[in-house]
Amino acid sequence: MATTKDYGFGEHDFARGWFMIGPATDATSVPAAIRYFGKDLVLYRGESGNPYVVDAYCPHMGAHIARNRTSYIVLDGNHVAGESIRCPFHGWSFGPDGACDHIPYSPDFIPKAARLRHYPVVERAGILWMWHDEEGGEPTHELANFGGHYGEPGWVEWKIDYMGDLPIHGAEILDNMADYAHFVPIHGATDWQYFANEFKGHVIHQYYSAGHRTLTANPEDMLVLDTWYEGPGFLQSEMAGTFDSFIMIANTPIENGSTRAWHALMVKVHDGSRETTEADRAAALEYQEGSRLAFAQDVEIWANKRPCLNPMAIPKDGPFGKVRQWYSQFHKPRAEAAKVHERVNGVVVTLDKRPGKSAA
Ligand code: FES
Ligand SMILES: [Fe+2]
Repeated sequence: MATTKDYGFGEHDFARGWFMIGPATDATSVPAAIRYFGKDLVLYRGESGNPYVVDAYCPHMGAHIARNRTSYIVLDGNHVAGESIRCPFHGWSFGPDGACDHIPYSPDFIPKAARLRHYPVVERAGILWMWHDEEGGEPTHELANFGGHYGEPGWVEWKIDYMGDLPIHGAEILDNMADYAHFVPIHGATDWQYFANEFKGHVIHQYYSAGHRTLTANPEDMLVLDTWYEGPGFLQSEMAGTFDSFIMIANTPIENGSTRAWHALMVKVHDGSRETTEADRAAALEYQEGSRLAFAQDVEIWANKRPCLNPMAIPKDGPFGKVRQWYSQFHKPRAEAAKVHERVNGVVVTLDKRPGKSAA
C-alpha cells in the first residue's frame, strides 16, 4: 500500500474535501462504528433526524462509544437521547456541539475539556457526506447538488452500488480523469471525437465524446460526457447516451493508501410531463447496471494493481502529471491551494477529431 507521502502530494495524509461515508440508510438511532481517514468514528442519527459523526473514543476513559451491546445504557435504550449520544461505560452524554451535557453521577460538575469531536455531515441525494479537513476549517466549497436531478420530475433516483474496499490510494482513481488511453481497452470506447481536461481551482473536468460498445443503443450513437470532481472525493458526470443520466462515483479513504468506492446513476426516463411507471424504473435500473459494469472494469484494475508513484507517461496518455498536481492541492494546507491553481488552471486537449478540427 503506498501512502500520501510516497506520492509526495503534501503534508496532510488525508485530503481536504467532502467525502461520502455511506448511504443515508446507514445512519440510525443505533450508533454505528465506522472507520475512515485512518480514524475510528461513530455515526448516529438524532431524534430530529439529523445525522452525526463523532470520534469513537470517549474523552473520559477511552471507551468506544458505539461498540457495545451489553451495557445497561444500550439495553435500556439510552444510547441516543434527543440529539445527544451517551457513552456506554459511565454514561457521560455529549450533545450535537460535542460538549458533554450530562454526567449521571455528577450533575453539578462537568469538566470544560469533556468534548467529543464532531465532524460536519450533510445528508443529500440519499447519501451521507462528511467534510474532512486536517486543519479543522469550515468547508472551502459547498457540497455539490448533483445536477439538481435528484427528485427532479422525469428522473429516476439512483440506488447506491458499493464497489469495494480497494488497496489503492484515491489519487489513482482520480488518474482516470486524464486517462484517455484506457477508454478503448477497458470501457469499449469507439469512434473517438474529443477528449480534453479543464482545470479550474478545486474543480477538474473531463470532456469526452465517443461511441461506446454498451452504453449506446446504436453503433452510430455518441456518448457525450462532461465529468468532473469538485474536490477530491467524488466524481459527477452528466452523460448523454441512450438516456440522459447522471453518474456519481465516490472514493473515500479508509486508511492512508486504501479507499472505499461507490457508484450510483440517475436516469432521465421522460420529460416530467407524466407519471413515472414501473417500466421506467426497470429501464433506469438496467441502465444503472450497465454503468456499474463499466465502472467495475476500472475497479478490477485498481483492486489488483501495484501502486504507480510515477506513471511512465507518453504524450498521448493524457495529462496525468497535471491531474496529480491538481489533486495535490487537497493534501497541502488550504493557504497553499491557490499556488497549485496558478500552475494548473487551463484546458488540455488530448484529442480533437470533431469535423472542422485538425486531429490532435
Ligand atoms: S469512558 Fe465514557 S463515560 Fe467513562
Ligand atoms: Fe475508467
